[in-house]
Amino acid sequence: MKRLLSTGLNAGSDTVVEVIGGQGAWFHLSDGRRVLDGSNTAGALGHAHPDMVETVRNVAGHPAVSEGWAYRDRELAAEELIDVAFAGETDWIGAVRFGLSGSEVNDLALSLAQALTGRAPIATRERSYHGLTGLSRDVTVQPHWHGGLSLMAGGVRPVAPNTEVRVISAPVSSLYGERVADLPPDDDAALRAKLDGTAATIIDYTQGGIYHDAAYQDRVAAAARDAGSLWIADEVVTGAGRSGRWFAFQGGTSRPDMVTMGKALAGGAAPIGAVILSKDLVDRLGGSAWQAYSTYRGHPVAMAGVRTYLRVLQRDNLLARVTELGEIIRNRLLVIAQKHPSVARIDGRGMHWTVELHGPHWRDWRGDTMTAPLASRVSARALGLGVVIGTSGEQTSLFIAPPLIVTDAEIGQILDTLDEALLLADAEMETPAR
Ligand SMILES: Cc1ncc(COP(=O)(O)O)c(C=O)c1O
Repeated sequence: MKRLLSTGLNAGSDTVVEVIGGQGAWFHLSDGRRVLDGSNTAGALGHAHPDMVETVRNVAGHPAVSEGWAYRDRELAAEELIDVAFAGETDWIGAVRFGLSGSEVNDLALSLAQALTGRAPIATRERSYHGLTGLSRDVTVQPHWHGGLSLMAGGVRPVAPNTEVRVISAPVSSLYGERVADLPPDDDAALRAKLDGTAATIIDYTQGGIYHDAAYQDRVAAAARDAGSLWIADEVVTGAGRSGRWFAFQGGTSRPDMVTMGKALAGGAAPIGAVILSKDLVDRLGGSAWQAYSTYRGHPVAMAGVRTYLRVLQRDNLLARVTELGEIIRNRLLVIAQKHPSVARIDGRGMHWTVELHGPHWRDWRGDTMTAPLASRVSARALGLGVVIGTSGEQTSLFIAPPLIVTDAEIGQILDTLDEALLLADAEMETPAR
């Protein structure tokens, strides 16, 4: 009997890699190999980054302080997050609360929205993933990531949401290939009707391989505002780095009521989440206590990690570097897509890209498969060639999200490897007419 109950991102029962060390953009594996990390949204500074290592060493001797205690470095981390990441948002920015994970801060933000509006329903975009706890799981509409069980013979059994969830359609364009939106695009009236009576509208910027543009964001934001629904920008993946600006929402003119962050925010050194409230929302709290105490929120290691991460991003000018690398990736992926008949769609921005293959629709993805689906087989082939290319639990999609510190040569190697690994998909699949 396996004593550790766990999950993998790649479906199928193939052995997962065991990482025993790492440096820069490289993982060291237990079988002696060194492989390039091409998909890791937590490790934005790569592995064993000298500044992060030093930070964790220095803070390791600090006593444990819970969220209920005052802790000066937590105050400083909040101030620095506001001063650095929200420097361009002085009219908007209110206050920060730290958390433990993206799931947790989304749950916190959603429950705050329910408390403030007195409403329960929540709206999200199709194919969303917002986490696996409480309300964040409720608004995760990908069935295979819904906290349920995959049944060996009968497909996935997701758990029923506790809250009414309304699903708005995804945008309909992508960089290459057809959009895979499931719902007919909402017109303004349909959008407004879906948002009416909701406490919150939560949208992220990468999940399901959907990287919506400013026009989509501004349209959803306007409809949410009209409906009295608080807009939560889930920037757990895109906040502070990966989108090439501090926040993906800065691509549009609208501003959210809340922003959630996580993943790389503590430089990969500790679990982290943050929910940031607009000035207006802080005013609406009117000094009420937001009683949601947690033992580990704002832990010293996480707080030190946040401060160092922000410092390194600025010092090393990493956002500009992400924009530069994003262009390189974009141009190369377009060439790769045209070359491989197995590629159905490409989309992305900055340092987060999705390559979707022809084949079963994501809605038909089953978590009960014992044989690895196509995306997992391509991913395994890439690993055999020395590069980690992830799948997001959908049968047909691969994602590329290297550390922000990769070199041009390393990016080249990741994309060369993808190019080669896709030959496996070309050979295996029947190519539908496009
Ligand atoms: C957009 C988005 N929101 C929330 C989460 C949940 O974050 P965590 O895994 O830290 O709970 C994720 C995780 O992949 C995510 O991609």
